[in-house]
Amino acid sequence: MLDVSELQTVEHDVVVIGAGGAGLRAAIESSARGMNTAVISKSLLGKAHTVMAEGGMAAALGNVDARDSWKVHFRDTMRGGKFLNVWRMAELHAKHAPARVRELEDWGAVFDRTKEGLISQRNFGGHRHPRLAHVGDRTGLELIRTLQDHGIHQGITFHMECTALRLLKDGDRIAGVLAYFRETGRFLLLRCKAVILATGGAGKAWRVTSNSWEYTGDGYALAYEAGAELMDIEFTQFHPTGMVWPLSVRGILVTEGVRGDGGILLNKDGKRFMFEYIPEKFAAETANTVEEASRWLDGDKNARRPPELLTRDVVARSIRAEVKAGRGSPHGGAFLDIASRRPADFIKRRLPGMYHQFKELAEVDITKEPMEVGPTLHYFMGGVRVDADTQQTRVNGLFACGECAAGMHGANRLGGNSLSDLIVFGRLAGLGASNYVTALSSQVRADDEQIRAAVRSATDILNRQSGENPYALHEDLQEIMEDCVGIVRVEDELKDGVNRIQALKERVKNVKANGSSQYNPGWHEAISMGSLMVSAEAVARAALMRQESRGAHTRLDYEGERDEWLQYNIVIKKGADGQMQVDKEQRKEPPAYLKEIANAKIEDLEAGKVGQNAPAD
Ligand code: FUM
Repeated sequence: MLDVSELQTVEHDVVVIGAGGAGLRAAIESSARGMNTAVISKSLLGKAHTVMAEGGMAAALGNVDARDSWKVHFRDTMRGGKFLNVWRMAELHAKHAPARVRELEDWGAVFDRTKEGLISQRNFGGHRHPRLAHVGDRTGLELIRTLQDHGIHQGITFHMECTALRLLKDGDRIAGVLAYFRETGRFLLLRCKAVILATGGAGKAWRVTSNSWEYTGDGYALAYEAGAELMDIEFTQFHPTGMVWPLSVRGILVTEGVRGDGGILLNKDGKRFMFEYIPEKFAAETANTVEEASRWLDGDKNARRPPELLTRDVVARSIRAEVKAGRGSPHGGAFLDIASRRPADFIKRRLPGMYHQFKELAEVDITKEPMEVGPTLHYFMGGVRVDADTQQTRVNGLFACGECAAGMHGANRLGGNSLSDLIVFGRLAGLGASNYVTALSSQVRADDEQIRAAVRSATDILNRQSGENPYALHEDLQEIMEDCVGIVRVEDELKDGVNRIQALKERVKNVKANGSSQYNPGWHEAISMGSLMVSAEAVARAALMRQESRGAHTRLDYEGERDEWLQYNIVIKKGADGQMQVDKEQRKEPPAYLKEIANAKIEDLEAGKVGQNAPAD
């Protein structure tokens, strides 16, 4: 029998799982508040999906258009999320984002500037004003660099290339994490009082995704197994513009900043097709002629925004519709053209990453030729259910933030709202965990049997005589998700998806990795299959339950938003029988001042006639 005292063991107050923007910001806050804080990260520090939010972070600084305010940002976010957002989260986000961006600048982030020397802000889909503070098209990278430098100087302990296997509990309270080092295969026992999950999403359940190998839904599975709830996980965002060619790079992100800076979408006949797909709801604020869209490009602040800047769900579905109608580009996407719209030096200055990405990966010069793009799975709006102000889950001492957490973005996230989400809610999670630890009245300790069980379930994969190949299982899962739980959904396919996932789960129980625990990518792949399966099953079951089309969740058999469904969140937890339990749960009424702001006419809001009673926070 394994002697737990022989495991490498460390003790901390707070352990953060994940070293993207949310995890780093949470750790900085927890550490600044006197907590002994550790971060465990699956890959090397600096490698996070955060860097895939390229175009900027949304905050109503009002530097480029003084009409902007937290209220307009909040209104845009709610409309973008099709009103399914947790109202309080969207409020906190819009209110806190400007201070968090300025704080990043104080910590050394080098933002692009306006002529007046202020932080520059660019346009993005669904944002009424230029709102995205940016660093060329490498904003996420700058955010990570800044937080990393700041965090390291603050004395946070980092355990890199270290994967969390299980959350440990003492009764109903969190008491630690069992993890393992990927290189050596050695287990690491982290005893702690609070855990913050900041593991991002589960894009790797699909084949075409902007996510890299780390995004296997670890946080969702850890939370689910520990007794927390998942919420609204059917809302998975397909970013409209991923690379489609060459095949080896299919899915890699092409920033929305290209469209924010004037890029347009064309079909194979050279037609600017987005004018055909303007939803009724957004007609009043979207240019419906090329002439008006061109005035916007020329800087006319009174011109309405071009249809390429409609929200991502709309643009992604429109590209798909063009392809389905036989008007797609040669490799099954659309053309994204900025070359005919902006001079080469502008493109190279504003979009240097895209310029090099296409030059090196596709041999396309985007200052001269259009790019070929198509939808790519980019982001999970749903995730672990948390309290808005503290980010605590239903499990005492367990917190979640960033993409891993549900609520902020409702049915569809606006581009640029993720980087600001990370720093706003990362901070609140760090604060929430610190307050929780400070208030703990007695010690917590996980018993040895939980730890042994977690070690056994990982080593069984190596020890069984024969079994399923983890890579083949992963490919099968991706095929199921592409076939049955894609950008548009229908009951028969979703049911088929759920059944196929059930069958795959049985095979995953018998997964086998050859070789030892050292330097063993097959073992890592086998371990991550567990998290992927929980995530995929949750998405498929929730998507089957929600009988309407809202935001990123499109049901061909239930077209349009249905009022009755706006009343509900879909909540998932592990039932007493070990099965996944899926329920719809009535949402709470928001405070009157938030409803008033979200539904206000924009002229009234900008004239200060609405929302005067809103508290400052
Ligand atoms: O298109 C982008 O640059 C992505 C931004 C985001 O997802 O927020």
